[in-house]
Amino acid sequence: METIRFEHTGGPEVLTLTEAPDPSPGPGEVLVEVAAAGVNFIDTYHRTGLYPLELPSGLGLEGAGTVVAAGDGVELPVGTRVAWANTMGSYATRVTIPVDQAVEVPDSVDLDVAAAVMLQGMTAHFLSHSTMPLDGEDTVLVYAAAGGVGRLLVQLAKRRGARVLACTSTEEKAAEVRALGADEIVFYRDVDVPTRVRELTDGQGVDVVYDSVGADTWEGSLDSLRPRGLCVFFGNASGPVPPLDVRILAQKGSLFTTRPTLGHYVATHDELAWRAGSLFDLIEAGKLDVRIHERYPLADAGRAHTDLQSGTTTGKLLLVP
Ligand SMILES: NC(=O)c1ccc[n+]([C@@H]2O[C@H](COP(=O)([O-])OP(=O)(O)OC[C@H]3O[C@@H](n4cnc5c(N)ncnc54)[C@H](OP(=O)(O)O)[C@@H]3O)[C@@H](O)[C@H]2O)c1
Repeated sequence: METIRFEHTGGPEVLTLTEAPDPSPGPGEVLVEVAAAGVNFIDTYHRTGLYPLELPSGLGLEGAGTVVAAGDGVELPVGTRVAWANTMGSYATRVTIPVDQAVEVPDSVDLDVAAAVMLQGMTAHFLSHSTMPLDGEDTVLVYAAAGGVGRLLVQLAKRRGARVLACTSTEEKAAEVRALGADEIVFYRDVDVPTRVRELTDGQGVDVVYDSVGADTWEGSLDSLRPRGLCVFFGNASGPVPPLDVRILAQKGSLFTTRPTLGHYVATHDELAWRAGSLFDLIEAGKLDVRIHERYPLADAGRAHTDLQSGTTTGKLLLVP
């Protein structure tokens, strides 16, 4: 098999395609032939060391493929199509997955589409259904709305009835986000975000901010909320949010904040199956627009990272072994 590995943290050039013997599945695991592996921002945090890993290491958490062998105690037959979002080393032609981390993919959903919605889609799902169960009373501000998580979050928030103010950086991205149903566009690089948000909300501020940009935007996010609003910091595209003095939450309106991560929202297999199943149902019904920005050969994982970190992509980047 072939796999992407890295020995030192650093730029995209540290990612190397290497040959390795096929792993054999242990008890409770399946060996999967990978059809597509998802590229996510967290992979860049692992590569740079922002989120430290023991090195050398494989990379990539997400993918979809077909079971080619099963370990002891596994009931999934060879040939089952599965997807996953939390198995390190998924940038590979073959990978072993604990079955409790895998979900079956319905026949009508392509494996590359399944790979495209596991991590970013389940994130959009927990943000809109669980961190804050949105409804028609809510107005939300979504950062990086044309990105991988952002496109899906805009759609799921709209499906729940919320009014969506979408932050993005270019006219092209804005056109795409409008087509997904966003109510207003905020060019957050060009305007004072809290001022623009208050203009769009009769001076009130929004109920929820979903901020994945972090270092560059966190303060404007807090200032865009109504009193007792919720700020969800869920990513670090521009760098992490600095340490926060909680007194600021009182000064700015008895605000709430949280820093969620997907693992805690797919804590059981039932919860994982619910979130993934909800996304597959929408895809089967033609009600979720999943955009694949580009498919890259496994050997081009570094180029995929460069593209994702350039901020110019929209939708999902996939490695197709
Ligand atoms: N907490 C969780 O469980 C969880 C799970 C999945 C993802 N996330 C987070 O969600 C965010 C989005 O992830 P994604 O994979 O879907 O990526 P993405 O949104 O497709 O790409 C990142 C986007 O962020 C914006 N951006 C702002 N400042 C940037 C900078 N300095 N460098 C690069 N991009 C910048 C760009 O959009 P604009 O041009 O519109 O500004 C860019 O397209 C990431 O922060 C990620 O860590 C968190």
